Amino acid sequence: MLRVEDLELYYGDAQALDRVTLDVPAGEIVAIVGANGAGKSSLIRAIAGIERARAGHIRFKGRDITQMESHQTCDLGIGQVAEGRQIFPSLSVAENLEMGAMLARARAKARETMDEVFTLFPRLAERKGQLAGTMSGGEQQMLSIARCLMGQPELIMFDEPSLGLAPTVVQEVLHTIRLLNRRGITILLVEQNVAVSLKLSQHAYVLENGRVVMSGSGEQLLQDDRVRQAYMGL
Ligand SMILES: Nc1ncnc2c1ncn2[C@@H]1O[C@H](COP(=O)(O)OP(=O)(O)OP(=O)(O)O)[C@@H](O)[C@H]1O
Ligand SMILES: [Mg+2]
Repeated sequence: MLRVEDLELYYGDAQALDRVTLDVPAGEIVAIVGANGAGKSSLIRAIAGIERARAGHIRFKGRDITQMESHQTCDLGIGQVAEGRQIFPSLSVAENLEMGAMLARARAKARETMDEVFTLFPRLAERKGQLAGTMSGGEQQMLSIARCLMGQPELIMFDEPSLGLAPTVVQEVLHTIRLLNRRGITILLVEQNVAVSLKLSQHAYVLENGRVVMSGSGEQLLQDDRVRQAYMGL
């Protein structure tokens, strides 16, 4: 579904991604693992069209999206749940969801999609009039996932979805990701909890200093001594 080939990204003279190549097959959960500053968020932002690659290619469903703007990638079906839950705090839950359905691909079905989203997240239905900024961290994370769903994505890229959440809420978020995947949404997951993200994923890539240094099935990487030492403290 998504293919990244020899992608290079720079911030000024500083290289953030160095010939990154990876595949995200339709229907799978693919994890990106790496230390702080490895380039994980940069990779997601490059795919989303927020950062511009200097070299390489990004293809989505066979189409070259390397030079596309973010609104174009969204309209093709690439959704993003960004780091730090970018909701609109002074808008209500329902208004936040409506914002997620502004895309051409989603507008006509917005009402229907909102019903589906409320079925998936009953807590959001209970709180549709509440200002988003007054919700708990976990509820805000659910809202940002729900808002992404309003755009009817085929691929969702998650950047550290469990950051700063209590363990029970983390479980809820991971459960939601698995559920969305079972419903046919392809997932690219960046998650600080390496053990969990490797368990969840069919394939995983290890990013170090902007380079892919290892890849394999989640299971394989989970057994790998280097991965266990470097990222799981084992
Ligand atoms: N807007 C920017 N301008 C300049 N340098 C940046 C910018 N964004 C990221 N970088 C640099 O690019 C490198 C990769 O950053 P990135 O945020 O992609 O890492 P990351 O793997 O997501 O890290 P973390 O786990 O801390 O979120 C870092 O050295 C970072 O300082
Ligand atoms: Mg990051």
